[in-house]
Amino acid sequence: MSIVLDDVTYRYSTEQSHTDGLTHFSTTIQDGDFVGVMGRTGSGKSTLLRLIDALITPQSGTISIDNLDINGRNKNSYSRQLLRRRVGFVFQFPENQIFETTVYREVTFGMRHLGFSKAEIEQNAQDILQRFGFNYEAIKDISPLGLSGGQKRRVALASVLAAHPQILLLDEPIAGLDPLGREKFLNFLTELNQSGMTIIMVSHNSDAICMCTRHLLILNHGMKVFDGVTSDAFSDSQELTQYGIFPSQSSQLAYTLRQSGIQLPTNIIEPSSLFTSVANVMRREEKSNE
Ligand SMILES: Nc1ncnc2c1ncn2[C@@H]1O[C@H](COP(=O)(O)OP(=O)(O)OP(=O)(O)O)[C@@H](O)[C@H]1O
Ligand SMILES: [Mg+2]
Repeated sequence: MSIVLDDVTYRYSTEQSHTDGLTHFSTTIQDGDFVGVMGRTGSGKSTLLRLIDALITPQSGTISIDNLDINGRNKNSYSRQLLRRRVGFVFQFPENQIFETTVYREVTFGMRHLGFSKAEIEQNAQDILQRFGFNYEAIKDISPLGLSGGQKRRVALASVLAAHPQILLLDEPIAGLDPLGREKFLNFLTELNQSGMTIIMVSHNSDAICMCTRHLLILNHGMKVFDGVTSDAFSDSQELTQYGIFPSQSSQLAYTLRQSGIQLPTNIIEPSSLFTSVANVMRREEKSNE
């Protein structure tokens, strides 16, 4: 399911003014990709996700999934029903959108409106709630409104994932999570991606972007200013900072080590490759001292 945006422009119109959401934007996202979206506040990140989910329609340009126009009205278009089934959208602070009377109703809301069978709905709800660390029988009939903030967020995410979307759109999913919750959540996303799900994640968190994504889009004032390999973007910290993005902790540390004469590759951006490269350097030094 490749996603192709071709020269897409979207402008918000209000009574007072027009605002550029996204201007002449093109990109291709391959099936199974894990894409990060970064850029200053107001740069168009959420607009991009809304366009891919067809919540808004571009004034010009096309968006297609598997060569089918998601906004078209002919036989070469993607049906809205199929789009809703295939694409899951987790909004920022999804816990604020919880509204059902029980956890079961909340988690099954999407599936109940997407034509899933009763047996599928029950099975998927059970699987996903257990996957998110809940005791299914104990939680299914209680009100989600009485849960803690972190539990509510897990229920909200579970309700999107329960329908097994093939493409997952996440708008700042880790904002407000504690460090342990954040790490667990990012590991979970990595597993979902490894099992084949295409993920597009908006985040201001460089460490999270470097840990999870291979492909990065950087937006600035509604325009695309970078579209390529995440480690390529993060190996040039000067380019990044002009778009309000800080280097990840690992790329900063690798930079400092390089400055002090330790020979490390320039594409180190996350902890596991930093660890491996430092271990290689130490091994080489041990050998040369033998
Ligand atoms: N509903 C709306 N009506 C009018 N203008 C809007 C609307 N939503 C967004 N905009 C404007 O469009 C531009 C892009 O907004 P968008 O929400 O996509 O930015 P963003 O990169 O997601 O920002 P943030 O990091 O703050 O979430 C901004 O100038 C914003 O003010
Ligand atoms: Mg946003």
